[in-house]
Amino acid sequence: MRFFAPTNVYIEKDCVKSHKQELTSLGTKAFIITGRHSAAANGSLDDVTAVLAEASVPYVIFNEIEENPSTETVARAAKTGIDEQVDFVIGIGGGSPLDAGKAIALLVANPAETEECLYKKKDLAAPLPFAAVPTTCGTGSEVTPNAVLTRHAIGAKGSISYNIYPRLALVDGKYLASASRKLLINTAVDALAHLVESRLHRKSNIYNQMFSEYGIKLWAGVIPYLRGEKEADEIAYEHLMLTSTVAGMAIAQTGTSLPHALSYPITLTYDVPHGRACGLTLAAYMEEYAKNKPEDVNRILSLLGLPGTDEFGALLKDLLGPQSIEAGKLTDIAEKMAANAGKLATYPFEIGRDGLIRILTKSLVVE
Ligand SMILES: [Fe+2]
Repeated sequence: MRFFAPTNVYIEKDCVKSHKQELTSLGTKAFIITGRHSAAANGSLDDVTAVLAEASVPYVIFNEIEENPSTETVARAAKTGIDEQVDFVIGIGGGSPLDAGKAIALLVANPAETEECLYKKKDLAAPLPFAAVPTTCGTGSEVTPNAVLTRHAIGAKGSISYNIYPRLALVDGKYLASASRKLLINTAVDALAHLVESRLHRKSNIYNQMFSEYGIKLWAGVIPYLRGEKEADEIAYEHLMLTSTVAGMAIAQTGTSLPHALSYPITLTYDVPHGRACGLTLAAYMEEYAKNKPEDVNRILSLLGLPGTDEFGALLKDLLGPQSIEAGKLTDIAEKMAANAGKLATYPFEIGRDGLIRILTKSLVVE
């Protein structure tokens, strides 16, 4: 068993300010990677630029990261970073800017390469130091080595071939205060999927289980806020953010499993946000898993305070609403995945095309 967690993580209010020294000492010129609006709206960009300015560290901002960022956008950003001679990268936002930031840190450090290198195992120079400031409560990317990008050339989403851990993660729940309930739901369900998939992963061991089980218990505490039964406050935001980072710590040890693998084509074809796409199949996946090892699933349900997978499915349906999918597309997704030995290997039992179709048909409205 191996436990590896090299990121220096602070989870506390105003941590960008209180740990500015660790952030500004990562290099001499920063490359800030964000989406178009949210980092500016929730105060995180202002917090980061203020500490850089105070320390007289120059910076360049690239704020064009889209949802499900593409390798083309990453390459465009890297070109700016190379031209500007930046020597460290700060990703601010949800999973998209954080994942893109990791790939950009690698490409800037390898100026002779193109984005083609991201999905090849090559002997590359180490990425520039990367710091992550998450502003949504789902990705966990601030503590994982993964960077999922969209490859339009082949119509697929997938993690790049390199493990890039952030050097520093500055996690502050206050950035969630301006998020809509819908965004909180979609991203919190992503965190839940990370927790459950890690707990039920083939590689599951005592280390990831500590994070998964603690995170699932935390997640149970945020259900009333997600359902709108309680008004979210500062404590709730801290709780949501902590759950997300703990979930990231779990998948950093194991990776994700079938719901994530099934989510990528659903997101690409139907433009479904990542967390929602993962949450749609989560209950049916647990039901399928329980046929082999019900005690693992019962453990998760008891931590959530739910009596069975039916109640778990009902909770997710209530939060996410229905999603329909064409029958032909469903078969297509199941067949492609059934042929992908690497993805199936994350699941500890036999599951082929028929098992995947069972999960999909139970989870989605088939047209
Ligand atoms: Fe995810």
